[in-house]
Amino acid sequence: MTLSFFKLLFSILFHPYFLLSINALCIFWYFYYLILYQFVYFKMNNLKFGTDVKSTNSAVSFQTRTSWRAPIIWEGMFDPKVFDQKHIQENSTVALTVFAVGRFTFLMSAEQHFMLGLPVTYYVFTDLPDKVPNITVAPQRSLKVMQISKHNRWQDISMMRMKTISEAIELELRHLFRYVFCFDVDQEFKGRFGSEALGDSVALLHAHYYKAKEPAFTYDRNVKSKAFMKTGDYYYHAAIFGGTWENVKHLADACYLNILEDKLNDVEALWHDESHLNKYFWIHKPSKLLSPEYCWDKHIGDKSDIHIFRLVWAPKHYNTLRTWQNGQTITTEYS
Ligand SMILES: *[C@@H]1O[C@H](CO)[C@@H](O)[C@H](O)[C@H]1NC(C)=O
Ligand SMILES: *[C@@H]1O[C@H](CO)[C@@H](O)[C@H](O)[C@H]1NC(C)=O
Repeated sequence: MTLSFFKLLFSILFHPYFLLSINALCIFWYFYYLILYQFVYFKMNNLKFGTDVKSTNSAVSFQTRTSWRAPIIWEGMFDPKVFDQKHIQENSTVALTVFAVGRFTFLMSAEQHFMLGLPVTYYVFTDLPDKVPNITVAPQRSLKVMQISKHNRWQDISMMRMKTISEAIELELRHLFRYVFCFDVDQEFKGRFGSEALGDSVALLHAHYYKAKEPAFTYDRNVKSKAFMKTGDYYYHAAIFGGTWENVKHLADACYLNILEDKLNDVEALWHDESHLNKYFWIHKPSKLLSPEYCWDKHIGDKSDIHIFRLVWAPKHYNTLRTWQNGQTITTEYS
């Protein structure tokens, strides 16, 4: 009885029709998963990290992802609608901090391009509150002017910037916003600067250095400074940094303490808070990098990588890189 049962089973299992159908099924599933996987992989990449689509193009000289797998945001890598939808659903709120706004350009252009559709509050820190232009902002958005005391030396200004940001987060921002973004004021928004830029810890690739290799980066090479770096990943621009309030507070505190320690040791980092920022991001890798589209210098001749100008350095300062609110400028060796 058992023997005939096994005989029957055997004859079914090895029947040519049965084998053929198993084969057909396998082939079907193989293609099904192949196609599904490709699709899902592409979609997930698109949503979460942006794709490597561009980097497969040999004509393109830029990276779209860091070695620690943080995306570098370039035009064409993301679907703006997907990011906007996600952040609206998550009720994301954004505080933008900026120091000493005496001109309309920054704020007016931010109203046209910065995080449209999300609740945004501009925190303008200034020693001259009366000079802040009285602009009307869109619904869900607001402008807050915060008075700070005046510092004459730009070194002190750059140091106090970190302290002020940290204090503001502690006192107010942490209760009202998920994200904090800190901007230099000498800039103008020109195109979408949207929710794709939001992330846990966000750094900006410096437009002058995004193609350069490490030895060219202007890290602080002075071993006496807390900002000293022997080597690094990228050269980040201090004109924009951001992230969740927790991370931005951590960054501001760390940079402030290091600047303070340098000051006690009578050392000043080469590029001040930018040197310290680079050191910080070397130790604490940012989770997202913004391409130079997010802060372009129109005087760079080769624009071949840049398909959209989202923010540009204000033209009036074309021959200097840094202009602080007291009018003192530092000319630079960038060129
Ligand atoms: C966003 O806000 C709505 C309305 O207040 C709320 O129902 C929803 O749970 C919030 N979503 C998240 C992710 O917090
Ligand atoms: C700003 O403008 C609004 C409306 O135009 C006005 O109510 C407000 O008083 C103005 N504020 C200042 C400081 O001028």
